[in-house]
Amino acid sequence: MGQVPENSCPAGWPGTALFAAAPSYGIAGDGRVARHFAHYLDLLGLRVARWSRRQEAIDGIAAEEKLGGCDVLLVLLSDSAIEPFLRARPGLSRCKAIHFSGALVTPLAQGFHPLMTFGPELHDRATYERIVFVCERGELRFPELFPALANPHHELAPELKGRYHALCVLGGNFTVLLWQKLFEDFETRLSLPADAAKPYLRKILENLERNPRQALTGPLARGDAGTVAANLASLEGDAFQEVYQAFVRACAPALSPVCPHERQERSHDRHS
Ligand SMILES: NC(=O)c1ccc[n+]([C@@H]2O[C@H](COP(=O)([O-])OP(=O)(O)OC[C@H]3O[C@@H](n4cnc5c(N)ncnc54)[C@H](OP(=O)(O)O)[C@@H]3O)[C@@H](O)[C@H]2O)c1
Repeated sequence: MGQVPENSCPAGWPGTALFAAAPSYGIAGDGRVARHFAHYLDLLGLRVARWSRRQEAIDGIAAEEKLGGCDVLLVLLSDSAIEPFLRARPGLSRCKAIHFSGALVTPLAQGFHPLMTFGPELHDRATYERIVFVCERGELRFPELFPALANPHHELAPELKGRYHALCVLGGNFTVLLWQKLFEDFETRLSLPADAAKPYLRKILENLERNPRQALTGPLARGDAGTVAANLASLEGDAFQEVYQAFVRACAPALSPVCPHERQERSHDRHS
């Protein structure tokens, strides 16, 4: 079995029932999150054994050989690959396996979700230290796994992860899609520079951070049904008309214009 690098104990760390000495780490995967987390551990002076299928294709060294001796195995693969990877490698079963998926719940590895988005650029230590981890409640606890990491962390019951991740996608990913739509249509349909909207975007974020309950402005906040109807009409033929309509239904149903098939159904109900 390959040599897994040892780490020294952080000052004052008492050791725990799980690990008497500082845990050794292994990372499976070389995607975005694997690169970021390996870099973070490196910035902290922690050494990590690495394996990826790409590297195995080059050096021929299997995951069990590279990672089998580590205390904590971070399975930083695509969500759908995590369980098959662990099932196919019983030689890794002595490691405490964890993953970083916000959605997956599996008996094979406990989830520790970094509530962050990871792009191609690596960050400095302070940026990584601010990342909040939302940890699936279970056998393993964040401070025990990562005694050298000062990251804020919260625990969540596994049965709440589905709702938790759906909220992250709604708030984090869908807002990106909405802003991409605005930038794109400003330039292509309105001949306005996308940059013109950026001070507006920054102010929205600032308002949301300062006072989320008061942050909403515009026709839904004002209860302006006429403007809502005009906005919807202007989106005729655009797939985002339904997105707008869904927001009205979810957030201000009283402003939702009655669409033709609903009008027909209501009239049918009245006459039957
Ligand atoms: N990206 C984010 O912002 C973010 C944020 C929080 C949590 N996460 C979580 O972090 C984990 C990794 O995400 P990521 O964004 O780093 O994904 P990614 O950039 O797409 O990387 C996926 C990695 O998985 C490997 N992989 C995929 N299928 C495999 C298989 N069958 N066998 C072996 N390796 C396989 C890929 O190898 P190849 O390159 O060879 O395909 C690659 O190394 C996921 O659980 C994700 O939910 C991501």
